[in-house]
Amino acid sequence: MEIQRNYSLKKYNTFNFDVKAKNFIEINNEEELKLLLSDKDINNMPILMLGQGSNILFRNDFDGLVIKLKNQDISVINEDDIYVYIKVGGGVIWDNFVDFAVSKNYGGVENLSLIPGTVGAAPIQNIGAYGQEVKDTVFSIKGYEISSINEKLFMNSECKFGYRSSIFKHELRNKFIITEVIFRLSKVPILNINYGRIKSELEKLPKNDYSIADVREAVINIRQSKLPDTDKIGNAGSFFKNPEISEIEFIAIQKINPQIPFYNTAPDVYKIPAGWLIEQCGWKGKRFGDAGCYTEQALILCNYGSAQPNEIIKLAALIKKSVYEKFGVAITEEVNII
Ligand code: EPU
Repeated sequence: MEIQRNYSLKKYNTFNFDVKAKNFIEINNEEELKLLLSDKDINNMPILMLGQGSNILFRNDFDGLVIKLKNQDISVINEDDIYVYIKVGGGVIWDNFVDFAVSKNYGGVENLSLIPGTVGAAPIQNIGAYGQEVKDTVFSIKGYEISSINEKLFMNSECKFGYRSSIFKHELRNKFIITEVIFRLSKVPILNINYGRIKSELEKLPKNDYSIADVREAVINIRQSKLPDTDKIGNAGSFFKNPEISEIEFIAIQKINPQIPFYNTAPDVYKIPAGWLIEQCGWKGKRFGDAGCYTEQALILCNYGSAQPNEIIKLAALIKKSVYEKFGVAITEEVNII
């Protein structure tokens, strides 16, 4: 356990920005974490817990301590005829956990295949894709309050999960470190294949009876065809959240744009794909130097090589402004800007 100074985070953020952490440390387990936080000087620094850096945009160098947790355990701790309870270290790569679950035919996370990031980061923004959200399989979350170093267990109902949100992104932002998540997965999986492109991917297979492994493969195929590979093009997935608007607002927009896609998620709540709004404003595929809006998915902002953080931030501001001017809809960042 050794603190490194002025450490480049280029390999630790998927925008591939060459920003530096004033202090950086990798830790292997909770004992090391407690020991680290018990040092008063360290505990008083701004602390940033980093997963794979796949949902983060560093504006500048980070003037504090970046902690990378490496605990890698996955273990089944309980099961009955229907459910299995799996304890997973916060440092486990999310897709390794999905791969483990699918290989055992435990259902509930297969639609979340290939999402970048770690298990500890997944509940913070309640990752979701193709009709599944992680909140539906999180049983409990364990971690430490930074200021007191007290261990705390959150049951699912205490996490205040919402669309790309949780208590850890709001009230407990930067105050709590997640070290372990217990998932409750199903031993009798019910497939969730209503999302249009999953169905059409599966229909390519020469059978009608699909397994969760088939769903995982379908999701991987879709993601690889639509989303840029972060090793080649720097990005952090969806840059903005899909905005939710009222029925009155929705009808007014639909009158002028009858083809507008939408999800009526609750009474008087219409979720609109931000990618569609952005594309309608002419941004899809547009580039200023190496900062651009992805050609296949307008919701993704990219660093095509040597873009600087402020160029992406500037592009995002222009996009927000034009969406607001054209549709009267305010879109907000999904990515964490630090
Ligand atoms: N669309 C466009 N143009 C675009 C992009 C999208 O018109 O450039 C329209 C299309 O009509 C499409 C609809 O938007 O049918 C929805 O697009 P897509 O299925 O690509 O999903 P999304 O709403 O843009 C969300 C998540 C993604 C997740 C996908 C699939 C958010 C902010 N994003 O995107 O999550 O993979 O659904 O479920 O909710 C992420 O959070 O980083 C992420 C990638």
